[in-house]
Amino acid sequence: MALDPRELRNCLGRFATGVTVVTCHGREATAHGMTVNAFTSVSLDPPLVLVSIDRRTKGSELLDEAPFTVNVLHEGQRDVALHFAGRPQVNLELAWEEGKLAPRLVGCLAYIECEPWAAYDGGDHVLFLGRVHSFGFGETAPLVFFTGRFHALGDAYDLPWLEALDCPTAGWLGQLPADARRGGD
Ligand SMILES: Cc1cc2nc3c(=O)[nH]c(=O)nc-3n(C[C@H](O)[C@H](O)[C@H](O)COP(=O)(O)O)c2cc1C
Repeated sequence: MALDPRELRNCLGRFATGVTVVTCHGREATAHGMTVNAFTSVSLDPPLVLVSIDRRTKGSELLDEAPFTVNVLHEGQRDVALHFAGRPQVNLELAWEEGKLAPRLVGCLAYIECEPWAAYDGGDHVLFLGRVHSFGFGETAPLVFFTGRFHALGDAYDLPWLEALDCPTAGWLGQLPADARRGGD
């Protein structure tokens, strides 16, 4: 039975994400940016991240074997997200700076600058993996995307790290001792 693409989108939109702008060199010495929420970390050794880019976008052509920077947006950057999603914001003042490999936006929550590592077929998208070359981050709250709308992050739960199964010292679920694991059979 064929899946209803609209309903599938609605379902996938239940996965809350942050919002990034992926920047790279454009043609003729310009900088290009596109808003992307399909971003994930992949590996620490080697340090790899992934962005999933629609084949119909200009970005998908420009990212072919090109370095790029993932700019993570903070909660005050909804206009930046819209601007780089094909809705130019007339009064938006953007500041760019040149990284070692790719241009980036000044004043974002974090940046992850990458050299191209691999590109894979992702159906109507291309999965671009980048090897992290340099990065930086601040402490402001992130912009959140959920069910097709922008949100602010809610309050953090006051739980010990081990209950969140994402303990910075003990590691992820798979690396924890069996008695520290919870849920599932
Ligand atoms: C919140 C948000 C998230 C988006 N995430 C993605 C994404 O992960 N991948 C993608 O290909 N397009 C995504 N888009 C759409 C692109 O930003 C949009 O198509 C953009 O205009 C492409 O620009 P370009 O053709 O100039 O490269 C997203 C748009 C918004 C508003």
